[in-house]
Amino acid sequence: MAVALITGANRGIGLALVKAYTNRRDRVIAAVRRTSDRTELDAFAEANPKWVEVIEMDVADAADIGRARRKLEAEPIDVLVNNAGISGPDRQSATDMDYDGLAEALGVNAIAPLRVANAFLPNVKAAKGKIITLSSQMGIQGASSDSLAYRVSKQAVNRLMRGLATELKPQGIPVLIVHPGWVKTEMGGEGATLKPEDSAAQLLKLIDKLDLASTGKFLAWNGKELAW
Ligand SMILES: NC(=O)c1ccc[n+]([C@@H]2O[C@H](COP(=O)([O-])OP(=O)(O)OC[C@H]3O[C@@H](n4cnc5c(N)ncnc54)[C@H](OP(=O)(O)O)[C@@H]3O)[C@@H](O)[C@H]2O)c1
Repeated sequence: MAVALITGANRGIGLALVKAYTNRRDRVIAAVRRTSDRTELDAFAEANPKWVEVIEMDVADAADIGRARRKLEAEPIDVLVNNAGISGPDRQSATDMDYDGLAEALGVNAIAPLRVANAFLPNVKAAKGKIITLSSQMGIQGASSDSLAYRVSKQAVNRLMRGLATELKPQGIPVLIVHPGWVKTEMGGEGATLKPEDSAAQLLKLIDKLDLASTGKFLAWNGKELAW
């Protein structure tokens, strides 16, 4: 049995990952923010009390991460999944930028995954575990100026995670960056092509296969390596 810590676990891909790990009898620590609507997650956790523990952690809040880390002090973590993310502000083109929204997107999508990874590194080391971060192909595609806060935050997290992979390789901890596909969630919208459960099933396969030989790679849900 593995233990997985998943951020942004109350809905979308995060919740699908919680269910996928639980269904194969791995234990999940599902992290949500205090303000999250956790109705569906709580019902699932209640039905699976041995497998799911819900904790509160806003990944944009360093103090909150510290509290969660102290709560989980003695818990080895096999798989740490940085899933929480935001699409950024309404105005995010190069000539019409909401700068506070840009900073928020960088905070949640790029800085937070690194902070969370470092906070729980002792737990991951204790389990000889792995670190996975959900990024997006949008971070590396074309020269388009739409969704620029989102794009640049995902490009930034790729680079931060690649650096982390380099530093952690000698310590035996693999780090993977994944694009989950275009997924029907609040972020992906109704027109998306993949169901959250299908994306989660593919991501589990990639995570299971992850080792030091593939550390630092950026992979799409279908296993295709994305060059950037
Ligand atoms: N859906 C897609 O097509 C797609 C494509 C490429 C990449 N991705 C990436 O995949 C990941 C999951 O996306 P999704 O589609 O499942 O998005 P989603 O449905 O919008 O869910 C986002 C999750 O992140 C949480 N979150 C946001 N800010 C947070 C914070 N400060 N602290 C803790 N949790 C926070 C949300 O919690 P609340 O409920 O409290 O807001 C929610 O649980 C994201 O990193 C996203 O960028 C998604």
